[in-house]
Amino acid sequence: MALNFRGPDAVPLTLQINGEAHQVLVEPRRTLLSVLREELGLTGTKRGCGQGQCGACTVILDGETAYACLTLAIECEGREIVTIEGIAQGDALHPVQAAFIQHDGYQCGFCTPGQVVSAVALLAHTPQPSEAEIRAGMAGNICRCGAYPAIIRSVRAAAETMAEQEG
Ligand code: FES
Ligand code: FES
Repeated sequence: MALNFRGPDAVPLTLQINGEAHQVLVEPRRTLLSVLREELGLTGTKRGCGQGQCGACTVILDGETAYACLTLAIECEGREIVTIEGIAQGDALHPVQAAFIQHDGYQCGFCTPGQVVSAVALLAHTPQPSEAEIRAGMAGNICRCGAYPAIIRSVRAAAETMAEQEG
């Protein structure tokens, strides 16, 4: 059986991000985080720790949250990637974004894109989460400012708004 290696030099990839196909030429060692930020200008996804401990780089990959700093871009070919830039609904904020603003779900804001992306994924799976489910669903996102009570309030408020919109 022929083995099909790609790299170590740059290889062409097509990444499906926020509903659009993007062509990039990158080395297989590059993370999704570096490609989003440095090749595509999608800088809403933040680099905090760079080693899977803070959640600032959270994106949604095929419906599940993933740390972009621990994910190779080459692994993402053929998968649906959603970043913070794809969360708003056209010109309207997503209810999660609106709730974070209304309920002060941030202080410095550095962790906020990751928090919002995780909350959107959580509510997609669990539209009416209990407080324990919110805490568990958001556990992969660290906030160095300690805005946790307001973050939890924001997620709960977003769930209520989304339930009203559904109803
Ligand atoms: S930057 Fe990816 S988990 Fe911290
Ligand atoms: S708002 Fe500052 S790190 Fe969370």
